[in-house]
Formats: sequence, structure tokens, C-alpha cells
Amino acid sequence: MTSQETRGTWSSREQPQPMQSTGSMYTRHSTYSTTPRNNFCTQPKSSYMNTRTTPHPTSTHHLRKRTEAKRYVIEDFRQAFERKGMELDTTKKLGRGKYSKVYKAVDRINNRVVAVKAIDILELTSDVKNKFLPREISCWRKLKNPFLVGLHAQYEAQNMIFLTMEYGSQGDLLRYVQENGGINERRAGQFMSQLMRGLQYMHLKQIAHRDIKLENIILFDNCVKLSDFGFVRQVENQALSLTFCGSKSYSAPELLRGIEYNPFLSDVWSLGVVGFVMVTNRMPFDEKKPNNVIVELQRKRQYVIPSTVYLTTSCISSFESMMTFEAKHRPTSSDCLALPWITPHLVDNHSG
Ligand SMILES: Nc1ncnc2c1ncn2[C@@H]1O[C@H](COP(=O)(O)OP(=O)(O)O)[C@@H](O)[C@H]1O
Ligand SMILES: [Mg+2]
Repeated sequence: MTSQETRGTWSSREQPQPMQSTGSMYTRHSTYSTTPRNNFCTQPKSSYMNTRTTPHPTSTHHLRKRTEAKRYVIEDFRQAFERKGMELDTTKKLGRGKYSKVYKAVDRINNRVVAVKAIDILELTSDVKNKFLPREISCWRKLKNPFLVGLHAQYEAQNMIFLTMEYGSQGDLLRYVQENGGINERRAGQFMSQLMRGLQYMHLKQIAHRDIKLENIILFDNCVKLSDFGFVRQVENQALSLTFCGSKSYSAPELLRGIEYNPFLSDVWSLGVVGFVMVTNRMPFDEKKPNNVIVELQRKRQYVIPSTVYLTTSCISSFESMMTFEAKHRPTSSDCLALPWITPHLVDNHSG
């Protein structure tokens, strides 16, 4: 295994050393990317996910063969990692997404635990392979902030790409809420201030995330960090985006309406949804509804805060502000640092 520049389209190099909807939110929200103009929804790696989660009865044999082939490949890499001084734990995954599987590893050389995102290039659509993944890697390298999961190194071998990164010992925020229920307003406010600082840092570098959701937020011992830069985009001079990225439940109205959007402001909307879900343990909008219905619910702020959850007006007004229907009236990530639910916690976050 090498950590190098073998494929023309891949920029690679090691980093410098040291280096789920209303009612049931327990779904991992599918991420999609489509261009509204042709009204065609490409679902990166959807076939891969489908074979794993909903096998067709007649394809069981095929599925088993594919699964075995995958396991063999991962096992093969465990040995390759060992030769680099890393002990890759292939027995259980930390998580998985549409693109990848994430494993834990012990990096003996740098004396730290890392997370390893394993991506099989053969499983990627050409868009993901040629556009989104190269962007993910090149932008992620530029992002160094206490509230963004840091990329350590990139390794390539055969048809696989491995991205090693900071390990979040507490898993992702979706799993946390599933297991523990809603988070109290004060702690959620601390998380929001951390995430908003990470997001503001990205935005100041002109990089939009475009896939903010609970499963892309990783819990560390003392803080949360934004992760999964699979749909990031560097946007110069306030240029607008047309590519539909993200998950429907977290999407701002302008995305659901299929109009050009400012990706920085739609990130703010998505983080508002994250705030809502953290404290209520519910999704504000049901992704099963048609887009035009959701947009009307968003316009009228028709979401349900369970009667058992007491929230202060500081908290409610803050996530409502992030979920301002008209993008042009929505606060930027820098403006959001002044929101009453967020400001009081900024002081806690000095060191990260
Ligand atoms: N640094 C990390 N530490 C711990 N778990 C992680 C880490 N990164 C990712 N995971 C887990 O793996 C899942 C998939 O990772 P992600 O980067 O979101 O991949 P994808 O781009 O395929 O969605 C996450 O939802 C989370 O559960
Ligand atoms: Mg993800």
C-alpha cells in the first residue's frame, strides 16, 4: 500500500505530521445529488446500499459473493495497514455511509487511535469518482479547525482509497440521539456553538458543506465536530449552486423548490434543523411528503415541538432564525454566532 499519487485525478499526499422523519427519525437520511434542470436524481452508491440493506430474493447468491469479496479486500488491507504500523480493526465498523465504511485503527507510529474511511472506487458513480471525491479530499485538506474532523492521511491501493482521520470515540450524533433521546437545551446549545464555529470557519474559506445532518456530526469526548465533506464545494464570489445535494429532511426550501441557491445559507438552514432535532428528538419536516408540501410547511413553520419538551424562547428563536424561509433574510453563519442560544456558549469553546 502506498500513500502517493498514482491516479491522475487524485491529489494525494499525507497531511503534515503530527500529523432518521416526524414520528420516526430513526432513519439514516439518504444523501443525493441531482441537477434540477434534468430532474434526474442520481443516488451515489445507492445500488451498493440497496444490495446490502434490501437484497432482492433472487439475488441472494450474488449478494453473498459480493459481500465475501468485500470482506476479503478489507482483510487484505488489514495486513497492508499493519506494515505501515497501523492496526486496523476489521471486526466491526464505526459506521457506514452511502460512500464508505468507517473502521477504527490504532496508529502505533503516531501513538493515537484513528478512524479510517474506506472507499471502494469501483462502487462509485462517475460523478462521485470524478467530481465529489476529489473535491472532498482537496477541500478537507485545507480544513483545520477544532470543530471539524481532521484528515490525517490518504492511502491508495488497488481499487480502494483510505482516508485516515481523527477518531470520535462517542460515534455520530444520530446514534447518540437514538440511544439517549433528545439533548437538554444547554448541552445542545454548546454543541450548536461548536458546530457554528466549525461552519463559520469553512464559510470564511468559501467552502460550503452541503450535507449537514446528524449522522455527519461526530461526538468526541468534549465536543462535537462536523464531518463528511463528500459534498463540499468551494464557491467564489457568492456564486450560486444548482446541484441538489444533501438530505431532503435537512434541505432548505430553495433546494426543494429546485432554484439556484446560496450554499452557505442553505448550510445554515440545515444546521437549524440539526438544532431542532437535538432538542426535540424529532424531525421538523417529514421527508416522505412531496417537496411542494414540505415547502409550504416550512413557509408556515408548521412543525411540532413535543409538549413534553420545554424550550426557552432563546432556543426556539435561534433555530427559527436559522430556518428563515427566505434565504436572503436568513442569517449567515457569522451572524448566527450572535444568536441567544449560541453566544453564551462561545466562551466555553476557546481551546476546542
Ligand atoms: N471520525 C470518525 N469517528 C467515529 N465514527 C465515524 C468517524 N467518521 C465517520 N464515522 C461513522 O461512519 C459513518 C459514515 O461516515 P461518513 O464520513 O459520513 O461517510 P459517507 O460519506 O459515506 O456518508 C458516520 O455516520 C459515523 O457513524
Ligand atoms: Mg455521511
